[in-house]
Amino acid sequence: MEDATKLYDAHLKIFQEIAYIKSYEEYETLYQKSMDDPEAFWAEQAEKYITWGKPWDFVLRADFEEARFEWFGGGVLNASYNCLDRHLPESKDKVAFYWEGDNPDESEQITYQGLYERVNKLAALLQFKGVKKGDRVIVYLPMIIALPVSLLACARIGAIHCAVFDRLGAEALARRIQDCAAKTVITADGGYRAGKWFQLKHNVDKALKRCPGVETVIVYNRSGSKLELNSKNELEWQEAVDDPGLPGYVPPEPMDAEDPLFILHTSGSTGRPKGMVHTHGGYLVYAAMTTKIVFDLKQDEKFWCTASINWITGHTYTVYGPLLNGLTNLLFEGVLFYPDYERYWQIVEKYRVDKLYTTPNVIRVLARETGDIAGKYDVSSIKLIGTVGEPISPETWRWCYHNFGRSWAPIIDTWWQTETGGHMITPLPGITALKPGSCALPFFGVDPVILDLNTGQEVQFPGQEGALFIRKPWPGMARTVYKNHYQFKEAYFSLVPNLFFTGDEAKIDEDGYYWLLGRFDDVITISNHRLGTVEIESVLIQHDRVAEAAVVGVSDPTEEQVIWAFVALNTGTAKSDKLKQELIDLVHEKIGMFATIDVIKWVNSLPKTLSGKILHRLLHKIALGQVDQLGDTSTLADPLAIEEIIRDFS
Ligand code: WTA
Repeated sequence: MEDATKLYDAHLKIFQEIAYIKSYEEYETLYQKSMDDPEAFWAEQAEKYITWGKPWDFVLRADFEEARFEWFGGGVLNASYNCLDRHLPESKDKVAFYWEGDNPDESEQITYQGLYERVNKLAALLQFKGVKKGDRVIVYLPMIIALPVSLLACARIGAIHCAVFDRLGAEALARRIQDCAAKTVITADGGYRAGKWFQLKHNVDKALKRCPGVETVIVYNRSGSKLELNSKNELEWQEAVDDPGLPGYVPPEPMDAEDPLFILHTSGSTGRPKGMVHTHGGYLVYAAMTTKIVFDLKQDEKFWCTASINWITGHTYTVYGPLLNGLTNLLFEGVLFYPDYERYWQIVEKYRVDKLYTTPNVIRVLARETGDIAGKYDVSSIKLIGTVGEPISPETWRWCYHNFGRSWAPIIDTWWQTETGGHMITPLPGITALKPGSCALPFFGVDPVILDLNTGQEVQFPGQEGALFIRKPWPGMARTVYKNHYQFKEAYFSLVPNLFFTGDEAKIDEDGYYWLLGRFDDVITISNHRLGTVEIESVLIQHDRVAEAAVVGVSDPTEEQVIWAFVALNTGTAKSDKLKQELIDLVHEKIGMFATIDVIKWVNSLPKTLSGKILHRLLHKIALGQVDQLGDTSTLADPLAIEEIIRDFS
């Protein structure tokens, strides 16, 4: 067992010679500059990373009270131009994406020129179908090159893309279409996952029964078989873009820095998933800079971000960040375990991936399934491993460091959120000595503060736990919840005046390193997807035998999150395994196959506060078997409820 306080710094020397930012002193100076004069700092970055059609009139206008933030106001730019056109003179033959199929025999690559041509064709088709600046377009595609092409084609004509995770079902899709009143849907007949075909177009058909506003459906033919199209408003992508009448070049739409670029739905503690809105200017500056600096990416390096493009991680670190920097990416259609658990290693070997960005969960599974990899695979191309999505445990960290990282390649544990657009707290290669489990220090311009919510005061340094807030605005921050600014203000800016609430619990240690401890709200992370417990609960109570339901996420011994549901049935209903299966199936159908309830416990009633709020915290403790740590339960609306549950469990 290694000493828990050991600092890992073998990478520092190696990176210091080549890194963009070469020393801790340089980081400190630049960080201080970003704190002292954020506007000057961000103006410099905006100029460096983005080509503007017209410069901005002002750098920042911030109104915390109204939760209104504007960056680079009056500036004009286009995301697609910045990701594609401007690279062509020098890099048209450079590979933008290597695509590796779910089936190991399938692969493809596309250059910047190739991507540019495909984006223009689709943009022309969208325009031909009447899609205009500001219109919302739903993108519901698997991990194929058509997915980044769709995002960039929307951006090119100023349409707002709203990507929907391809494992979400018809109901979730319908809700998102309705939420952003989209008239256009881009999808595929289906996709491949672990050797199996899954349907997407069928889900769209089902969803559209409830979305009469949709006028056009563009269907990418992934299977190669004949598509079943329902009306003349449904087009086969490949056929439609081949129309010689469509122009091969669509001028990029001049966009104001504050025009929305995309909407991405994410779960919070209350209600339905929120459609977070990111804008052209600030988001792109932030995506470009964090990609380059945090991973210290060089022009000849291959970068593999394993997240789905349908999440913020893929938006920022597979599409926008890397393409803005003119880099070469890997896009993987498949999954970690297909054909077997060696797949990731084989991909790293095959493409000689330089830098990998993945999740602690992936690393944990690889550690468990593939063990000590020394000598078994050639991972010598790997220079850095980034992680995101959850805290990484010190054991998993050390396994990764010694095996994958050959005891020198840094593990860059990046903390951020859909709402923040890009990395917020992270080590930097060549600068930060690493502590397993800590995401280290704030990125430039990021001003975190941890408050004790009971007193409203900043926590006592070091070690005291509290709620993580961000003090200064940063360009990558989401601007609003689509069509619901009130919700945005309430969720993020109302708890403490002048601070952005992250929803995460954190502490800071004696060296100023941040440790993220988990979320305050009732959010479960499954397959890197944030699921609000309310989302699952609202599906369960749709079953006509269910009276009430409460859901909690519990980490199992392998640290993976499993879903527990406490379900109270209508009087007289027989408890059966068949009914359990029906509930599991219902959640699969309504939310998606990835949302599997692992444990269902029948209860007579649920513990609630006097105001009727279900006490998830108590249920969580019960699921963990910590019934001795429930605290005082006498003030519950019905103290008997909890006693009954405890009795049934012991
Ligand atoms: C959690 C993903 C600990 C956190 C980019 C956050 C993390 C939520 C880390 C956002 C990390 C993300 N260490 N926890 N390095 N990164 N989280 O919106 O709870 O899908 O609030 O964005 O994931 O999840 P989201």
